[in-house]
Amino acid sequence: MIKSSNITKVFNKNKQNELKVLNGIDIDIAEGEFCTIIGKSGSGKTTLLKCLSGLEKITSGEIEVNHKNVVHLDKKEVNAFRKSDIAFVFQEYNLIDDLTLHENIYLEHEESDEIEDLIDEWDLRKAIHLFPSQCSGGQQQKAAILRALAKKAKILFCDEPTGALDGKSSQEVLSVLQKLQLKNQTTIVLITHNEQITKISTRIITVHDGNKIDEVINSNVELVEKLAW
Ligand SMILES: Nc1ncnc2c1ncn2[C@@H]1O[C@H](COP(=O)(O)OP(=O)(O)O)[C@@H](O)[C@H]1O
Ligand SMILES: [Mg+2]
Repeated sequence: MIKSSNITKVFNKNKQNELKVLNGIDIDIAEGEFCTIIGKSGSGKTTLLKCLSGLEKITSGEIEVNHKNVVHLDKKEVNAFRKSDIAFVFQEYNLIDDLTLHENIYLEHEESDEIEDLIDEWDLRKAIHLFPSQCSGGQQQKAAILRALAKKAKILFCDEPTGALDGKSSQEVLSVLQKLQLKNQTTIVLITHNEQITKISTRIITVHDGNKIDEVINSNVELVEKLAW
């Protein structure tokens, strides 16, 4: 479902502040996997996720996602790919400031019962008509996740999606992600610092200084509900 070969990313190429952030990364994630990417801050995780999802151009290498060669798409095709093939939850949420959480979530989609139920279950109802600046980090993060879920994409990229959430909220969010993976075969690629999340993953990739230094297949995936948070 997601395959990269030897991808590199250099920021500010041929300038004084040139910075090589990805050093030739190979990735192969099958449909319906829950893949976690871990590694120290600054190791290149976010850059890798943005490259895999077509949000950031790579410097060299190849990427195929959902049978599409992401590297060679033209601008129109990249936009269509981002719109319909994938959904992305940003580390910094990236909500639109002058839209309420509700407007952010449904941006270009019909209101749905599934999302409305999650707004209640995740205790977001009281903030739903507020603007992002009036909300806590956790509320904004939940809205950013719901905005991604509203797309019903086959592939979900999440950059530290529980970074601003307490244990109970993390569990509630991850339970929904795991159901999507197990019931809908949604492919999930998720960056985290949370050890617990590796236990619910099928594949754990460790990145260090722009290299993939470890990859573990987890044959003993646990259910979110069975873990203590
Ligand atoms: N747009 C950019 N321009 C220049 N350097 C960048 C840019 N984005 C990220 N970097 C640098 O790339 C390195 C890896 O960043 P990042 O991918 O965000 O790491 P992580 O998500 O693992 O913390 C850092 O040194 C960061 O400063
Ligand atoms: Mg990051």
